[in-house]
Amino acid sequence: MQTQFVEKETLTQDFLPLNGTDHVEMYVGNAKQSAHFYKTAFGFNTVAYAGPETGLRDRASYVLQQGKIRLVLTTPLKSEGPVMEHIKKHGDGVKILALWVDDAYKSYDETIKRGARSYQTPQTLTDEFGEIRTAGIYTYGETVHLFVERKNYKGAFMPGYVATEGGYQPAGTGLLYIDHCVGNVGWNRMNEAVKWYEDVMGFRNILSFDDKQINTEYSALMSKVMSNKNGYVKFPINEPAEGKKKSQIEEYLEFYEGEGVQHIAVATHDIISTVREMKVRGVEFLSPPPRAYYETLLERVGSIDEDIAPLQELGILVDHDEEGYLLQIFTKPVQDRPTLFFEIIQRKGAQSFGAGNFKALFESLEREQELRGNL
Ligand code: FE2
Repeated sequence: MQTQFVEKETLTQDFLPLNGTDHVEMYVGNAKQSAHFYKTAFGFNTVAYAGPETGLRDRASYVLQQGKIRLVLTTPLKSEGPVMEHIKKHGDGVKILALWVDDAYKSYDETIKRGARSYQTPQTLTDEFGEIRTAGIYTYGETVHLFVERKNYKGAFMPGYVATEGGYQPAGTGLLYIDHCVGNVGWNRMNEAVKWYEDVMGFRNILSFDDKQINTEYSALMSKVMSNKNGYVKFPINEPAEGKKKSQIEEYLEFYEGEGVQHIAVATHDIISTVREMKVRGVEFLSPPPRAYYETLLERVGSIDEDIAPLQELGILVDHDEEGYLLQIFTKPVQDRPTLFFEIIQRKGAQSFGAGNFKALFESLEREQELRGNL
């Protein structure tokens, strides 16, 4: 498969330096039960909590961590308010992709002056562990980038949260950090979103796929990967393309009732043991590609360190680029609406996103879509 690398050299200073992803906050219908799912099935532990016991009247939030990945699960306690409105429209989904910065106030000013829409003006939160500064802007749909400055903070998460110790803390599954987070945008919206990341956030478009490259007999999509200057934060953006039938992106947009985060890719150093453990714990993955996929695997990607048998048994996909190869697998949606799902990825040199697997992946997704009557 041909991949178009786009290099745009800029000599300007990075006006929005990012240290990585700080956390991902999801709005969910029942945070207590979602926390149990992500702990039991994915291997997260609870590190902090905020709710009525800590003085919050309208919501409860559980902060889960595994490796460097922080997941915040927030649920409303009353029928009114922005969290409930979000859930009513979108179901469970990602509200905030929080970015770790050294200066939240400057990050806000720099992006607002370049055209960002404000979600939250800069504020400083303090407790006995120090101070945290945050500020937020909207990206696609109702999704938010929250800038989090925590260099003067030593607490579990943020002021307002109490550290959680002991209790039920299952063993991890080897998940290390967030590799990338993918957004789905509406028809003819991708280039606008790409330009927004370029102009407002100073990101670069490092990789593009058009509908000629990503298609099956039935559906197609276009995708562009946006990266910040140091490459610590990558946001691929998908747009549906015309096909014979409804694409998975259209299905997402219909059931999420708008644009939003499609998948969160989390990295592991040992995908075989991670996926095997997650399966034992009840995580559902997309059905494996046909046997032929593995019979021709080495011809496509060259030699790999792993045995084929466990990859085939678990349905793990392999792709390669000029720099190496990667192994990846996708979960089924993690809620009843066919919207958000997770990707497990192990990189062995490759810096791309598995475009060579898109066809195998889509055919698998379409089998699921057909079962839901949405193809
Ligand atoms: Fe991905």
